[in-house]
Amino acid sequence: MSKEKIILTGDRPTGKLHIGHYVGSLRRRVELQNSGLYDKIFVFEADGQALTDNIDNPEKVRQNVIEVALDYLAVGLDPSKSTIFIQSQIPELCELTFYFMDLVSVARLQRNPTVKSEILLRKFESSIPVGFFTYPISQTADIAAFKATTVPVGEDQEPMLEQAREIVRRFNYIYGDTLVEPEILLPENAACLRLPGTDGKAKMSKSLGNCIYLSDSADEVEKKVKSMYTDPTHIKVSDPGKLEGNTVFTYLDAFSRPEHFERYLSDYANLDELKAHYTRGGLGDMKVKKFLAAVMQEELTPIRERRKEFEKDIPAVYEMLRKGCETAREAAAQTLSEVRRAMKINYFEDENLIKEQSERFSK
Ligand code: TRP
Repeated sequence: MSKEKIILTGDRPTGKLHIGHYVGSLRRRVELQNSGLYDKIFVFEADGQALTDNIDNPEKVRQNVIEVALDYLAVGLDPSKSTIFIQSQIPELCELTFYFMDLVSVARLQRNPTVKSEILLRKFESSIPVGFFTYPISQTADIAAFKATTVPVGEDQEPMLEQAREIVRRFNYIYGDTLVEPEILLPENAACLRLPGTDGKAKMSKSLGNCIYLSDSADEVEKKVKSMYTDPTHIKVSDPGKLEGNTVFTYLDAFSRPEHFERYLSDYANLDELKAHYTRGGLGDMKVKKFLAAVMQEELTPIRERRKEFEKDIPAVYEMLRKGCETAREAAAQTLSEVRRAMKINYFEDENLIKEQSERFSK
């Protein structure tokens, strides 16, 4: 079996990407891409998976495929280093899903905590679409078709990866070593793991209107940072402030680096000193927010500007995606040919089969 190091990860194209996606996954992907430590990198838009709970809203998915592609390019994913593709254009993924379906029980799917909580969230009750219910199987196919060794995703995807490993293990046990068990790669710190919305709510989400998008203008970013949730008991500057649940500090955990202090807030050497002053009292929210805004602008401005450049040539972005699909399809087709051989359904490629059967019938 190959010892190549292969990354695969993706997003559902149901909206533009925001800074939660950025610190939770995109930033890391670009670092991994540029690290030179991986033989292949696949990043894809899971449009088929997006449709499993948007089946009556295909236009939403169609519109967001290009938005997400622009976000990818804007953060620095580079099509000459990473293959960027669209799930629905790779029919081999459906084929592999079909074979994997026999390796998983309904009870096992029902126990998947991510599926469980999403069913509640989307209020499906007993009318869960079968495709939605089985998306962990299709997600396993996404990963296994590319023999991914490393899957950088958020912690909400942990149960998916666990299930993927089980399916791959079961496949290899029954049919012989063919597929690769993937490892999850989680974000580096707690703030990046689950960046709260600007209102301090647990999750950044479009429906809550608490997102900062990668495509937001400098003014929008400024405004959103200035109106961020902090510590509601920190009223006067002299009051001691709380860090826990204080969104501004959570964002600083995710975004700030020591050199930002030199540039924008040189009274403090680092984030620990700033935190200490805030908890002691005597540090106003506005000063911290101004600092955060400067840090965020520094990080987001190049992204915003790159996005604007790519927006000038949309046909080229689609062409990049089309080529990515072609490359991805070749890789998936190679795996599927190995899968069919392992599962003994490669009737027309196996010369021995015809020979064996001829002998059997001529006895
Ligand atoms: N379920 C992932 C999400 O909602 C998207 C996804 C689909 C994915 N297939 C994948 C991520 C395979 C990693 C690997 O974000």
